[in-house]
Amino acid sequence: MSEREGHSPVIRMRGIQTRYGPHWVHQDLDLDVYRGDLLALVGGSGAGKTTLLRQMIDLQRPDAGSIELFGEPLQAGPRAERFARRRRAGVLFQQGALFSAFTVYDNIAFPLRECGGLHEDEILAMVMSRLELVQLKPQHAMLMPAQLSGGMIKRVALARALALEPELLLLDEPTAGLDPERSARFVELIRSLHEGLGLTVVFVTHDLDTLSALANRVAVLAEHRILATGSLEEVHAVDHPFINNFFRYRSAVGERDETEEAGS
Ligand SMILES: Nc1ncnc2c1ncn2[C@@H]1O[C@H](COP(=O)(O)OP(=O)(O)OP(=O)(O)O)[C@@H](O)[C@H]1O
Ligand SMILES: [Mg+2]
Repeated sequence: MSEREGHSPVIRMRGIQTRYGPHWVHQDLDLDVYRGDLLALVGGSGAGKTTLLRQMIDLQRPDAGSIELFGEPLQAGPRAERFARRRRAGVLFQQGALFSAFTVYDNIAFPLRECGGLHEDEILAMVMSRLELVQLKPQHAMLMPAQLSGGMIKRVALARALALEPELLLLDEPTAGLDPERSARFVELIRSLHEGLGLTVVFVTHDLDTLSALANRVAVLAEHRILATGSLEEVHAVDHPFINNFFRYRSAVGERDETEEAGS
């Protein structure tokens, strides 16, 4: 896809090569993420999706290739400038979303304290506003992660990802482990935050319901590169074993519904 309306992409990855020892993960991978995107990144387990998210915000470096974040090379400028750029992105990690020894409050406050220069009363106000954003109550602030349900853990992790008012949100399997109802509610929350805060969102998912409810664009990571990007319909139409397999369940559900309707 060409650059939209003359704006540079929020994330631009070119020629990414990544390997762990002899094992290639990415080869000649290109990806653009545009302002306002709700981009779903899909791919088989071990395809390199988490690695790619980590590279987008310089938690990990590829072996070769270039990455621009907010129109600047990731490595450009002095340290303080690089940090400031990275703070414009919030992340919800796939594993161990919260510090288990910290309260909800201290988990959300963590990035605020880390960036320094804020008084405790300012931090209090910010933590409470983030809790409200993710539809949790003030009294939840004093709970420990072990006292939370899976859905609440995701919400607190989202609140922490939003702590520094990011423009870009990276979500690694945001609905994994949630039951369908909680998953649908979490998707709705992400959707409303995207709209209300004007966020750009990149999310990894294996879940077709999450994908079809949330994505305005889909990128498929297979064969070490981004094999296809486009709307759900455009990507669905690409004839490739991974894509056929990925959407097969959905097609089966669609066909079953049609059969049931025809039979009723
Ligand atoms: N630090 C590491 N050292 C060695 N190999 C790694 C490391 N991190 C990831 N890998 C390997 O790189 C590949 C890609 O890993 P990654 O976590 O990015 O995949 P993924 O697409 O996120 O998978 P999943 O859907 O299961 O989360 C996997 O084969 C993984 O085992
Ligand atoms: Mg992963």
